[in-house]
Amino acid sequence: MASAPAKVILYGEHFVVRGKPSIAAAIDMRVYVSVREAAPGERSRIRSVFYGESSLDDPLPWAKPFKAIIDYMRGEGYSIPPLIVEVSGNVKPGNGLGSSAGSLASFSLALSSLIGAPTGKNEIIKAAVKGEEVAHGRPSGIDPTIAVYGGIIYYRRGHDPKRLKGSLGGDLVVAGSGVERSTGEAVRRVLELRDRHPSVLDHVYDAAEALVEEAVEALRRGDIEVLGDLMNINHGLLSAVGVSIREIEDIVYEARRLGAVGSKVTGAGMGGSVIALAREGEGSRIAAGLRGVSEFSRTVSIDWEGCRLEQE
Ligand code: PMV
Repeated sequence: MASAPAKVILYGEHFVVRGKPSIAAAIDMRVYVSVREAAPGERSRIRSVFYGESSLDDPLPWAKPFKAIIDYMRGEGYSIPPLIVEVSGNVKPGNGLGSSAGSLASFSLALSSLIGAPTGKNEIIKAAVKGEEVAHGRPSGIDPTIAVYGGIIYYRRGHDPKRLKGSLGGDLVVAGSGVERSTGEAVRRVLELRDRHPSVLDHVYDAAEALVEEAVEALRRGDIEVLGDLMNINHGLLSAVGVSIREIEDIVYEARRLGAVGSKVTGAGMGGSVIALAREGEGSRIAAGLRGVSEFSRTVSIDWEGCRLEQE
């Protein structure tokens, strides 16, 4: 069995798809995947606490990314027996917290360990990205990367991720809108909007890059005021490219009314979750205050470990 943390994107989502930098943090919620060889006569299958059961030979849509990883490993020359796979944990799909990438990274690690393939970070990310490509068309790779590394990373497509040291200088709150959305659909919309208005939106992409670079410095100092401002600005840029919705705006503005220093949609948007930065000691009060406008809300802490093998 292997597990991986959920994640939030602190700054730069969507703009990262077209080569801008982004900062992601792993959080203390986990997805678990166990993989074993099927007994003689047993069919290859996957069961998820969220989706139910699917064959792995002829998978339902939600299980196709797992099959893509199996096919990729076969293409790499590994012989893969029929498998029994179980996905569990407390990271609900569709809420923008990286459930899909976490389960694909965990699956890649558990499978590689079972068949004796290399289990280095790069190999696991590469395999998980093969699954993500099926789950949503043009992934930047940030989600599997943060699931594998844990901690806080600075990520730019095509470059090695950099681990960031530092702190947010306060409490991090996550609140889910309860509106499920498809990352692929949101990514496509933003790319299409950019292609219709390049001379306007290229400035927005540049602004996103500048704010990510400022955030790196502010994280180093633990400067909560600057980090909060940058979250608010980042939310504005994400609204500008059309991925906020009424339910998300309600949470973002309620968090600020309750005293959050910054708040923004996190991940693909069009639903999913919001993050808010609260002064130290105020996170629980703000999380409680958000219950009226969100499906769930809680304070989270950074998970420094990333994807790992678990004792069974
Ligand atoms: O799937 P989500 O909600 O974690 O969003 C992923 C972040 C995007 O930048 C929107 C897409 C990507 O592949 O980077």
